[in-house]
Parts: sequence; C-alpha cells; structure tokens
Amino acid sequence: MRFPRLLFAAALALCAFDAQAETVAQATSPDGVIKVELDVNGEGRVAYRVFDHGKPLIGDSRLGFIFRNGREFLRNLKLDAQATSAFDETWEQPWGERHYVRNHYNELRASFVETDHDHRRFDVVFRVFDDGVGFRYEIPEQPALQEAQIMEELTEFAIARPATAWWIPALEWNREEYLYHKTPLQEVGVAQTPLTLRTDDGTHVSIHEAALVDYAGMNLMHGENGVLRALLTPGSPAKVVRQTPFDTPWRTIEITDSAAQLAESNLILNLNAPNQLGEVSWFKPSKFVGVWWSMHLGQQTWATGPQHAATTANTRRYIDFAAKNGFRGVLVEGWNPGWDGDWFANGWGFDYTRATKDFDIDGLSKYAASRNVHLVGHHETGCAVSHYESQLGKALDLDARLGIDVVKTGYVCDAGQVERQDEADGPVVREWHEGQWMSNHYLHVVQEAAQRHIAIDSHEPIKDTGLRRTYPNWVAREGARGMEYNAWGNPPNPPEHEINLVFARMLGGPMDYTPGIVSLTGRNGQEIQSTLARQLALYVCIYSPVQMVADLPEHYAQHQDAFQFIKDVAVDWDESHVLAGEVGEYVATARKARDSGEWFLGAMNAYDPRTLSLPLSFLAQGKHYRAEIYRDGAGADWHGAARFRFVREAKTVTRDDALSLWLAAGGGAAVRFVPLD
Ligand code: NOJ
Ligand code: CA
Repeated sequence: MRFPRLLFAAALALCAFDAQAETVAQATSPDGVIKVELDVNGEGRVAYRVFDHGKPLIGDSRLGFIFRNGREFLRNLKLDAQATSAFDETWEQPWGERHYVRNHYNELRASFVETDHDHRRFDVVFRVFDDGVGFRYEIPEQPALQEAQIMEELTEFAIARPATAWWIPALEWNREEYLYHKTPLQEVGVAQTPLTLRTDDGTHVSIHEAALVDYAGMNLMHGENGVLRALLTPGSPAKVVRQTPFDTPWRTIEITDSAAQLAESNLILNLNAPNQLGEVSWFKPSKFVGVWWSMHLGQQTWATGPQHAATTANTRRYIDFAAKNGFRGVLVEGWNPGWDGDWFANGWGFDYTRATKDFDIDGLSKYAASRNVHLVGHHETGCAVSHYESQLGKALDLDARLGIDVVKTGYVCDAGQVERQDEADGPVVREWHEGQWMSNHYLHVVQEAAQRHIAIDSHEPIKDTGLRRTYPNWVAREGARGMEYNAWGNPPNPPEHEINLVFARMLGGPMDYTPGIVSLTGRNGQEIQSTLARQLALYVCIYSPVQMVADLPEHYAQHQDAFQFIKDVAVDWDESHVLAGEVGEYVATARKARDSGEWFLGAMNAYDPRTLSLPLSFLAQGKHYRAEIYRDGAGADWHGAARFRFVREAKTVTRDDALSLWLAAGGGAAVRFVPLD
C-alpha cells in the first residue's frame, strides 16, 4: 500500500517536533548545500538530521546501540565536547575509474557521555561532502565498556520526502543475486545496501557503508513513515564483538541532483583509509578469457570426465586464443580436485594445492608465459571456509610460483550457510557471507594474497565498501546477479537490470559482471535480453579493472566486427563521466583510457527506444578523432533475430560535435575515439 502523501508529511512534522530537543552541533558541506544537525532530546537521546538546499532530506534519526553484555547505549547522553575541521586533498589511484580523486569535506566530531550509570561514552564523526554525508561511531577504550557485544546498531535514516526506491532483499537465501525491486519507499522491506532512492522532487540518494572491516554488514529495514533502520547481519554470540577502542564502518548517504552525479561520486572511496600496500604496479588491469561460459551453458563440466573443461588441451586452446587477440589472462575453473559429485554440498573436499590429473598446471603455466599470458586462478570454496583457510597459504604459494597473479574466489552456498570450524574436530558452526566473521575472512584472503603480489576477484563476496583504496589488490567482486543468470537463470537478466546495477550495486565498487556474450544465447537456446551492441557497452558502463571476455572463441569468430571493440576497449582509466542516465532507464558513460589519448563511450537502454544526443565536449581541445561506432541497427530490439541487428561505422568528430545515438529496446552502443592529429 502506498502511504498517503498527506499523512506522511503530518507524521514527519510530528516526529520533528520535540519541545525539549536542543540542537547541539552542526556542520555543512564545503559548498554549503548540505547541512547536518545533531540534537539531544529531553530523554538524552541523540539524533542527526540532514538538509540539502535548505530543505529537510533526512529527518530526526536516532543513534545508539543495544548490547548483549550491558545496558542499551542510547539514552541519558549529553554532548561533552565537539570539534570541527576542514579537509581537502587529492589522492592518486593506482588503477581505477579515474587517476586522481579529490577528497574534500568538513568534519564534525561530537563526543557524547552518559549522564548516569557508568558514564560510558562514544564519539560520532560526521564528514560532510558536496555530494553527501558519511558518519561513524568511534568507541574509545573505557573501564565500563571493554568489550562491546553488539546485538543491534540503532542507526536510523528517516527519509523526509516521498521517494521511489531501488533495492534488493537482504538475508534471503540467494545472497546478493537478485533483481532490483522498484517500489515506493514505504514498501521497502528488508533491503541490502547500496539502496538507491529518488525523491519525488528529483534528489538522488544512495545509502550504503564504507570501510566494512571487522564488523557485520548493515542492511536496512523499513519501519514506518520512511524511516530506514540499520539491521546488522547476524553473528554469534552477538552480531559484532569488538574490544574497545574501535570504530564502526562509515554509514554513507550520497546526495546528488541527478542519477549521473550519484554514479560519479567518490564518497565511498574517500571514506576508506589510504593504500596500505604501497607500490602495487604488479597488478595489471587486464582482460581475460576462460573455460567459464561453456560450463554455465552445460556444454562442459567442472567435474572430471569426458566433458571436463579444465584439461591441458582445452586450456592450451584458450591460451592460444588469448595470445592471438591480446588478452592477458586465462581463467580455468575446475582445475583442482573436489568438483566431482555434488560440489555444492562438499566444499570440504576441495584441494587448492594440486591439479587434477588431466591438467598439467606446470606445463600450462610455462606455455602461457611463453605466449605472454597468465593463468587466472580459481578457488571455489563451496562455503567450507575454514577448510579453505587451512590451505590458503600453500594455495597462494602455488599460484605465486606459477605466475598466477589474479585469483577468482567463490563462496557458493545459501546465505547463512557458511561453514566455520575454529578447531580441527571442533563443531562446525554457520555464518553469513556478510557477517563479522566473514568480513574478516575475505580481508584475510586479500592480505595473504597481497603478500604474494596476487590480486583477488571475489564471487559471492561480502558487499563492496571501497576497501580497494586500502588494499588495491582487492580488484573486483561479483556481488550481484551477473551474466551467469543469462545462461541458466529464470528469468534471465531483464533489460533494466544492468542499468540498475550502474546506479545501485556499482556505487560500492567494481563488479566482475563477465560481459561480452556475443552469441546472445544461454542454455537450451534461452535468449539473452540484449542486443549485440549492448554487450559491448557493458565493458564501458560496468566498471572493473579485470574484465572477462566471457563468450566462447568460436562465437567471437562468428562476430568479428563486434569482437574488434572487445579487443580494443581499455580497462584502466584516467577519467570517467556519466554523460546521461536515469535509474532503470538508460545510461551513457565516457571514459578516457589511462595513459593514452583514446576515449571510450558505452550506452545502455531498458525498454523504450530512444535517441541520445551526447555532446563530445569531454574530448581534447583542438583534436580530431576517428569515432568507431558500434550501434544497434534499424529494427533492433532484445527479441529473436532483431538482437543481432548491428552496425559498425566510423566518422571524424571533434569536441564541438554532439553524437546522436539511437538505442533500441534492450539495446546499446559502444564507441572508441582514436585521436588523429
Ligand atoms: C559462482 C560464480 O559466480 C561463477 O562465476 C562460478 O563459475 C561458479 N560459482 C563456480 O565457482
Ligand atoms: Ca555468483
């Protein structure tokens, strides 16, 4: 049911009216548009609220904790001290959507102390940027709170305007692999973050978190009247157990005037700590091919036997294909013992330290090296995570010895079914992918890998909260409904899905979506709901520094025109701009290749055919470019043979031109701009 507009406003007015509440602190963004106020009411409860353009956006929203090992921590608080500061710095990304990132905010630190009992205390630190707000709790060391066993974090986000929400359910069996719901804010259930909102007056908001370390992932539960409440992922004996002092992850509210600006925000990265790994030029952003799609199609198997994909001969074929076409990586899944039988149910059978008999891993690594190609490693755990940890060091040593410097990991099991065994022969207990224990596991793998100069691409990951800034070898994650659903999913990914990803999931960080299925066909002839040109656009619109060229070599042979773009497209960028877009409808993104004068543009469309007229003012002054255009042909759409209607053409353009692109239903376009002068 839609909450009647008038009632909604009346309820908000009531919440906002608290005679005894007193505003105790405030901070504004550098441009003055966003303002945060903190108040303490008559019960000593602390609340924050957020205004943009002088209007309430987040109404009074409570802060606090419920502990398992102590009284609740939310009443009888008073402001003890406050401090403000300003920060403005530009930092360099070793790889990414842009080379330089400006981190510009005003900070407010407010210290609260209980007026009775044990005089426990916490600080809340707000950072107010031009495009949003981040805040976190910092709990100091104190006699009355040495260990915090957190049952719930009472953080609220009381959205003060009617809004439409795009969200996926949380704590459901299929983890993060859901299609987006588009509903009025009032109809959000229990949602994961990033959650995207568009208020009825056109403000775009994304609620998420940054720097999720040693803590449970935050979900959001809609209470009433637009109030979203934090709901931490379960754990035992409490959702989070920490010794003081500690900081929570940042709770983030990105606030922009347009969808495009939302997708360009650096707020999440800025709230993460700087690079702790130092020099990381050993990680090379790159494209990779692999035996992956044939198994998802059911043509080959992970298991050994007559259809085994990871054989020496088949892998040599892929190495040759990669070498011939300039791709750096070859992903081989099913290379190790453990896949035979029901691997889903038997993660404890995986061996990560040796290959199956029909896979000559040493010989193949040497052969790959001789052709300037690297094998991409694969560690599917089937969620037997303690078992994986027991082999992790040796497994990564093997990879390092063989020149495998990117490893894709996997955690396939239903949500809440991760298997943890603290001691050999001890009990096996269950954990959630997004719980505190797993947040530590994923990071442990990344740190172990970093020591060996190996990058990690986690599938079935914990959500991305920007930790690539601190650990630049955590290069990508899946963490959404990816291309694999176009092989066997029911339904396959509909045309709006990838556009929703751009404006929701992608705000967290890079995604290994595995694009480029030019055959546009899944298992048993299932049609992929995309045109051919759209598959190319994915390489630009859905960012990852490791991009799979996911289809079979024989399919690329049938689509040489389209394949040319996949060979040419860059994977590492100096600049990125979202030129146009609306959540769930369309998006157009332009990126400048790192250390080259070339630009690439991708555009994707949902259901209504449309023509975009895109000013090319991002191109360099005074230069002419050859625009190599790959677009939907006349009559294209996402059904049947029309999916393959496709045009490749070239013309000369300058930054004074606008490019007119017609996008079919389910269609797209991809353009490479090559400087001519
Ligand atoms: C799920 C991953 O997302 C997919 O890419 C992989 O092929 C399978 N697990 C097997 O590990
Ligand atoms: Ca998956």
